[in-house]
Amino acid sequence: MPVPVLSAEIEAKALAGRTVPGHVRLELLPGEIVAVVGPSGCGKTTLLRILAGLDTDYSGQVFAAGAALRRPDPLRVGVMFQEPRLLPWLRVADNVTLGARAPIAARERAQSLLAEVGLGGDADALPRTLSGGMAQRVALARAMFSEPAVLLLDEPFSAVDAIARARLRDLVAAVARRHGVAVLMVSHDGEDAVTLAGRVLVMASSPGRIRREIVVPSPGRQSAAGQGEAALEDAVLSALAARGATLPPNAAAP
Ligand SMILES: Nc1ncnc2c1ncn2[C@@H]1O[C@H](COP(=O)(O)OP(=O)(O)OP(=O)(O)O)[C@@H](O)[C@H]1O
Ligand SMILES: [Mg+2]
Repeated sequence: MPVPVLSAEIEAKALAGRTVPGHVRLELLPGEIVAVVGPSGCGKTTLLRILAGLDTDYSGQVFAAGAALRRPDPLRVGVMFQEPRLLPWLRVADNVTLGARAPIAARERAQSLLAEVGLGGDADALPRTLSGGMAQRVALARAMFSEPAVLLLDEPFSAVDAIARARLRDLVAAVARRHGVAVLMVSHDGEDAVTLAGRVLVMASSPGRIRREIVVPSPGRQSAAGQGEAALEDAVLSALAARGATLPPNAAAP
């Protein structure tokens, strides 16, 4: 049995008088891609912030790459958010290498990661000249810069158009495969979840906890390619609907 690269036992997180999320236990194996879906407000982002070491005010424990995680550590856990969060005054390559100690080696590594995400010619561009999808690809390169064992993604495709979304999804899958990084992706979208992930964890809203785990038999294929995946997507969405969850339009569309 492989040793999990991320394991978390969160007993509770108190947030503005509520418990969000509630008791959550999860494990991520090396190289595995897992999606977390759930209705708005159930605590997905809060959970991700805890798993990233960005929020330590909870009861429970997170272990990443064999040691307790008590603060952000990009060498163990990389994070990519819904919006790219690039520093506008820094060129693309400098956004990727941010904080690196050995500038020349860092620049080479940034260049290679940028080429991987299809931005090999944009190292010297400023963020304002990039499209939303390109900026997210820079954010992906930045998250992978320290070669983390775990990559956490919080709705990484939701702010871009459909074409950029499909491209980003493929890129995340390719980068995960090439680097062997384990990925935990929060999503509102059943199709994103079943296309990318080998397991989908469905969160319930009150209190935020994992109510169901769906194993996806053959992740990595395009979702339109097989009816099996459409059925799984339905299962994810039905599980949410059973909780009376109001889904955003992209997730509710047939
Ligand atoms: N800093 C905060 N202070 C108080 N309440 C907060 C804070 N951050 C989040 N919350 C509340 O905690 C709950 C969980 O928030 P969270 O952002 O984790 O949900 P989510 O599942 O990511 O939602 P969404 O799908 O809309 O992104 C929500 O009810 C939210 O209003
Ligand atoms: Mg969120």
